[in-house]
Order: sequence, then C-alpha cells, then structure tokens
Amino acid sequence: MSELAKIELDGKVYEFPVVVGTENEKAIDISKLRDTTGYITLDTGYKNTGATKSSITFLDGEEGILHYRGYSIEELAEKATFLEVAYLLLNGELPTQSELDSFGSSIKKHTLVHEDMKRFFEAYPAKAHPMGVLSSMICSLSTFYPESLDPHRSKEMKELTMHRLLAKMPTLAAWAYKNSIRHPFMYPNNDYDYCSNFLHMMYAMPTEEYKVDPVVAAALNKLLILHADHEQNCSTSTVRIVGSSQANLYATISAGISALWGPLHGGANQEVIEMLEQIHNDGGDVDKWVAKAKDKEDPFRLMGFGHRVYKNFDPRAKIIKKACDDVLEKMGINDPMLAIAKRLEQVALEDEYFKARNLYPNVDFYSGIIYKAIGIPTEMFTVMFAIGRLPGWISQWKEMTENKEPIGRPRQIYTGYTSRSFVEITKR
Ligand code: ACO
Repeated sequence: MSELAKIELDGKVYEFPVVVGTENEKAIDISKLRDTTGYITLDTGYKNTGATKSSITFLDGEEGILHYRGYSIEELAEKATFLEVAYLLLNGELPTQSELDSFGSSIKKHTLVHEDMKRFFEAYPAKAHPMGVLSSMICSLSTFYPESLDPHRSKEMKELTMHRLLAKMPTLAAWAYKNSIRHPFMYPNNDYDYCSNFLHMMYAMPTEEYKVDPVVAAALNKLLILHADHEQNCSTSTVRIVGSSQANLYATISAGISALWGPLHGGANQEVIEMLEQIHNDGGDVDKWVAKAKDKEDPFRLMGFGHRVYKNFDPRAKIIKKACDDVLEKMGINDPMLAIAKRLEQVALEDEYFKARNLYPNVDFYSGIIYKAIGIPTEMFTVMFAIGRLPGWISQWKEMTENKEPIGRPRQIYTGYTSRSFVEITKR
C-alpha cells in the first residue's frame, strides 16, 4: 500500500497520494486538492512546490549532488564535451560516436544566421546590454522560420528547431559582442568544435588569423557543461510556463534568457566580478564588505553567495574553483580578484551569519574570474551562462511537450478590496 498524506480541514480528513521519485524524493500530490476540499496551497517563490515530474536532472541541495540523466556533474565536467552533454540532456542517453557525429554535423549545418538579421544589430546602440540583444535576436528567429511557429507541427520540424537554436545561439551571442565594440562580424568556421567556434567568432578579425588556445577552449567546455541544466530554477520554470501555452520554441527560449538576466539568477556572475572590483578599488577590506552584507539596513548582498536549493555546498562551485586555479596557472595570470574572492569566501564561511543561513559560494562566484581570464568581457558573462543553459532549457521544454503537460496557471489568494461601487471622478 503506497503512503498517503492526510489533511484535516473543517473537521474532515482528506487523503492524498504520496509520490516518490527514483532518488526517494517525496511529494504530496495535491492536484485534486481544490476539487475535493475547495482549498488551494500558498507557497510564494514555490519553495516547496514541485511543478512537474522530470527525468532530466537530479539535485540534492543538502548533499551537494548534481546529476544529468544519472551521470554526476563531476564526471561529465571532467570527461565529456559540451555537445555530448547537450545530446545526453535532449535524448536521455550518451551518444554513440555515430550519433554524436550526426548530431554535430546537424548543428554545424545551421550555424549561420540569415543575412537580414545582421541589419537588426546595426539598430542597437553600442551600449546595449548583450542579454537584451540576445533575447530579442532569439525571439526574432521565429520571424525567419514561420513554419516553426506551431511547435507540434511535426517531429522533424521540432528537431530542426532545436538544432537551429543550439547552432545559432553562439553566432548571435558573439555577434552581440562584436556589435557592442563595433567590430566586423565573423562568420562561423565549421572546422572548429562548438566552443572553439564561439571563441573564433568572438575574437577573430578579418585582418588577422586567430588561433584558439586549447586551454581556453577546454575551460569554456567545462563551464558550459556546469551550466547545462539545473532542474526547475527560475529561467527553466519560465521556459516551461511559456512553453506550456504552446508558444513557439524561439519565443519560449527568449523568455528563459530574460529570466536568467536578473542579478538574483544568472546575472549574478556579472555582479560578482563587479563586486570584487569594487572591493579591490575600495582598498580590499573584505571584513568591511562582509559586515555590509550582514547589515539589514544596507541593501548590499554578497553576490555569488547563497542558493535556493544548495544548503551545504554547490558542487559546481567546487569544480569551478579548481578550474579557476588551473586556468590562471596555465595562462600565467595573477589576478588580484582571485585573492579577494578566496579571502571573502574564507571570511564568510567562518562567519556565524553565513553559517546560520547556509550561505555558500554558488556557481557564479568563481565563473566570472575564469571568464575574465579567458578574455570574456564582463557584460557577456550572463550570455555565457545562457549558451550553457540552452540544452537544459530545450530538454525541459521537450520533456514538457512530450508529457503533454497542461498550461501553467497558478492560483492566488486575493487580498484586495471586496466589491465596491464606481465613484464618479468629480466625487473622488
Ligand atoms: N548576502 C547576504 N545575505 C544573504 C545572501 C547574500 N548573498 N543571500 C541570502 N542572504 C540572507 C537573506 O538576507 C536572508 O536573511 P534573513 O533570514 O535574516 O532574512 C537569508 O539569507 C535567506 O535568504 P533568502 O533571500 O530568503 O533566500 P532565497 O532562497 O530566497 O534566495 C538567492 C536565494 C536569491 C540566491 C540569495 O541567496 C541571493 O540573493 N544571493 C545573491 C545572488 C546570487 O548569487 N544569485 C545567484 C544564485 S545561483 C544561480 O542562479 C545560478
């Protein structure tokens, strides 16, 4: 007999099934709660709400575990390529060599964007934030592929759209950067792998050859894998909600990019490096900034600290911290920001305020230092996150559509005025 949860309301006991996941996570299935009791649940920020059942990513915030399709993030970051991970997330299994080859060539086939899209870039001011440009450009792809407006038209069309997105994202992201510095756009070079091609489009110039540094390409590969999925976070939930209305995939992913932009989510990586620079320029007094973060009268927070689900450590932060040391050493860079970051981490981890609230460095704390070392401009940090997260967003959307999930539509508890009569303007 499976477990049942009992809820007593107005003297009556109602029973609800308990759902158990493959990693023994438990949930009370309240999908019939309103129909049977007239009550809804209230959970602002969805801190206790499971919005779906998913077989893509498992994470255990207490133990600091993160798995994609059952494979540990540590192993994937060490041994896989980003495209392999993208295939794994999308299809549920690691690809064989021939599956990877055919996936890779399909992606390469679609790396170019329509020439007319170049003209869109010209209209943006040079100071435009690349996240604003990227989310608009991704949505604009829908105008070039009207045949994909119906996301369920055919299996083949669905796959083509997913591949087009994966292929064009690095091109559009690199062009957003080139446009911001008013440099000529570089076309994709399909001799390169996914990460190297992005670096080529970011840094090559028509006048000179650009050699991709394998250390940089390897670091980028690792960073993208670490960001590739993270179950029902803010941007992924946005993707699932927007997609649930059966909006096309380009519009849906564009919404995810916008959600990611916020400083409490993916935008934190830009904020972290700006914070470290601020502390450095202020004389490097880490204790002073830790005190500010603890002061409830002061709006300052330690960016890159804290996480909604990781309450012990963020396994991605551990991997990134090591990668950060490796990259800086291999590239012979001595960045004072790294010293400040390490000191900040040490002070905060020993501080009662941070200990009591389980605040640990998250994935964004060290990623900015690597991005800086490999020459990515600060405003592009969140764009890098978006490139990494894209296969996760697409996989979650694919799963949702395959499961035929209903349109996302939460309820509310109304706290406004009860019914009242209209008052003529002269009498207000
Ligand atoms: N610095 C100082 N205090 C903090 C911080 C921080 N970075 N984060 C949380 N706190 C404090 C809060 O003030 C609160 O204290 P209180 O209980 O005394 O009121 C307590 O810790 C709990 O914080 P909440 O904001 O309620 O936690 P929540 O789970 O809602 O938020 C979040 C998580 C948004 C990540 C938060 O920790 C934060 O703002 N961190 C900084 C931004 C950041 O790094 N975001 C990236 C997250 S990772 C990602 O999205 C990829």
